[in-house]
Amino acid sequence: MTDKLKNKIAIVTGAGSIGPGWGNGKATAVIFAREGAKVLCTDINEEAAQETANIITDEGGVASVISGDVSKSDHVQEIINRCLDEFGRIDILHNNVGIVKPGGAAEQSEDDWDRAMAVNLKSVFLTSKFCIPQMKKQKGGSIINLSSISALRYLGIDYVSYPTSKAAINQFTKVSAAQYGPWNIRVNAILPGFNRTPMVDHAVIEMLKNNSDETMTIEKYLKWREDKIPLRRWGDAWDIAKAAVFLASDDSSYITGLELVVDGGTTLVLE
Ligand SMILES: NC(=O)c1ccc[n+]([C@@H]2O[C@H](COP(=O)([O-])OP(=O)(O)OC[C@H]3O[C@@H](n4cnc5c(N)ncnc54)[C@H](O)[C@@H]3O)[C@@H](O)[C@H]2O)c1
Repeated sequence: MTDKLKNKIAIVTGAGSIGPGWGNGKATAVIFAREGAKVLCTDINEEAAQETANIITDEGGVASVISGDVSKSDHVQEIINRCLDEFGRIDILHNNVGIVKPGGAAEQSEDDWDRAMAVNLKSVFLTSKFCIPQMKKQKGGSIINLSSISALRYLGIDYVSYPTSKAAINQFTKVSAAQYGPWNIRVNAILPGFNRTPMVDHAVIEMLKNNSDETMTIEKYLKWREDKIPLRRWGDAWDIAKAAVFLASDDSSYITGLELVVDGGTTLVLE
């Protein structure tokens, strides 16, 4: 590794993973540490965040854990305070948390809509709200918000609150980048395409339960999707983590307000 994040302090939300394997947040927390950052791993599932922190410390890196629901203001304040108490500053805020609730506008329950908006969108507002004053004092910081290509295109999946929340994250990213640029606070978004993570495996299994084509299996679905991606492979958590290192590091010091699409070319060809 190249010490791209040496001496930097990072908060990664959703640093665990909902199942075995590598989620985007887990891979990002680990790669940040490999690049020299000290990482506060936070997740609603403390055990999952602890697993990520253990990977980091076993590799000789520095990590700490705090559990919390990032849709709740008091939890977010605790996370920020903990980072400042333990590490004294915040250089990188990586907003990774995102959840999917099924159903289009006519089918989705009001509760599911409210929860998706709170977890996906309000969380980005809250973490930014409590981090930016500290970054202003430091005269710098990098905020990275996980969006999705579903914010740009209809992907054929009916989960209305998800792409709507992600589209709002894109605009939140741009207005915040413009407003806080004078303090050298950079705010960028990563828009993953089809990335094989535990979250996707879980969503595909749920989707296939309601599929009328009984011959469709998870393997068939994955292959069908893969054949439509110009680079002819699903992305993985490391593709997203490497993009996050770039946006977190000084290599991107003149880049702010960017929607960085990491999708193997999917949006180039999606009708
Ligand atoms: N995997 C993909 O194909 C894909 C595509 C586009 C965008 N994304 C985005 O990438 C991000 C991460 O995806 P992932 O695949 O790593 O997901 P993941 O589900 O594996 O990890 C997310 C983590 O967030 C935690 N979490 C959920 N709700 C929380 C809450 N309220 N407060 C704190 N933590 C909470 C979960 O416990 C989990 O450990 C999401 O924002 C997702 O929308 C993923």
